[in-house]
Amino acid sequence: MNFRGSHIISVDQLNRVSVEKIFDVADSMTPYASRLQTTKVLDGAILGSMFFEASTRTRMSFGCAFNSLGGSVREIVDMKTSSISKGESLYDTARVISGYSDVIVMRHPSPGSVEEFAKASRVPVINGGDGDNEHPSQALLDLYTIRKELEHKRSMIDGMRIAMVGDLKNGRTVHSLSKLLLLYKNITFTMISPNELKMPNEILDQLILAGHKVIETDNMKVGLSDNDTVYLTRIQEERFEKQSDADLYRGQFKLNQEIYTQHCAPNTVIMHPLPRDSRANANELDSDLNLHPNLAIFRQADNGVVIRMALFALVLGVEDSVHKTSAPVKWFTDTRTTTTT
Ligand code: NCD
Repeated sequence: MNFRGSHIISVDQLNRVSVEKIFDVADSMTPYASRLQTTKVLDGAILGSMFFEASTRTRMSFGCAFNSLGGSVREIVDMKTSSISKGESLYDTARVISGYSDVIVMRHPSPGSVEEFAKASRVPVINGGDGDNEHPSQALLDLYTIRKELEHKRSMIDGMRIAMVGDLKNGRTVHSLSKLLLLYKNITFTMISPNELKMPNEILDQLILAGHKVIETDNMKVGLSDNDTVYLTRIQEERFEKQSDADLYRGQFKLNQEIYTQHCAPNTVIMHPLPRDSRANANELDSDLNLHPNLAIFRQADNGVVIRMALFALVLGVEDSVHKTSAPVKWFTDTRTTTTT
């Protein structure tokens, strides 16, 4: 893929070479993402950040990524405070915001909306999640995390075994991650979900056609037994018609220390795109695993910054100039710690 000037809407745009390129650029961003070095490569550039759905990690990490490249961020944080609530079209919004910024990140509740917006934009648009459809930057940071975690265990993505757990019907992160894994070989997917929240057949068919093995089950304990990585997801309650419909599944697919020890293969990496639902009746990923060395969820969230820095650098064509304006941070003191768990 030729990144420069391109929109990033779907993982379908990527091939294995372009994924490797993103990962290489992401690796080179580590000193900036951990705020040990600064760069001014995007000095004067503006990110238009438009989040029409709730977000903590994605919005913050896109913003931090852009700031860490030396650029500035302007934000819209919900529908209510934007003119979309006055009936303004995506077309007009895109024409306007793309006049104010050099690149745009957008999250929106309707599938396909970011693509529609991008068609009217004069600058590159990155999809920060469009309804239950796609979340390409999350899939990239998830895959980057899996690769790093497996490397520590002298293993790799080709041939790995991954269980995806929870709301596989409505979860855009598992949709994008599954499709991204089409680029790799001989993966065993165990899809653990209630029957009503199964991974869409269209994605399952693509995985099988690509030569991967797919097992589907609604039995968490059986499904957990033989994996390198377990990827848990939240019941996407905002995508259900009624809260009571979502509540039917609350707490059905939990992982805690006891279940992990009894049912997971030793050293299984635990992932979750977050937020995890920690309310008592859901508690889908128990805090009793917080100090477990195989709990990768916070390393996974940290990786969001380097991946998003790489995407900005690539679509704006500055990936080879980042280090030219590099300098150590001035406020750094010996007492400051950069945490890697
Ligand atoms: C996910 C999302 O928004 O799709 N969160 C994220 O971006 N890390 C997952 C979720 O909300 O459950």
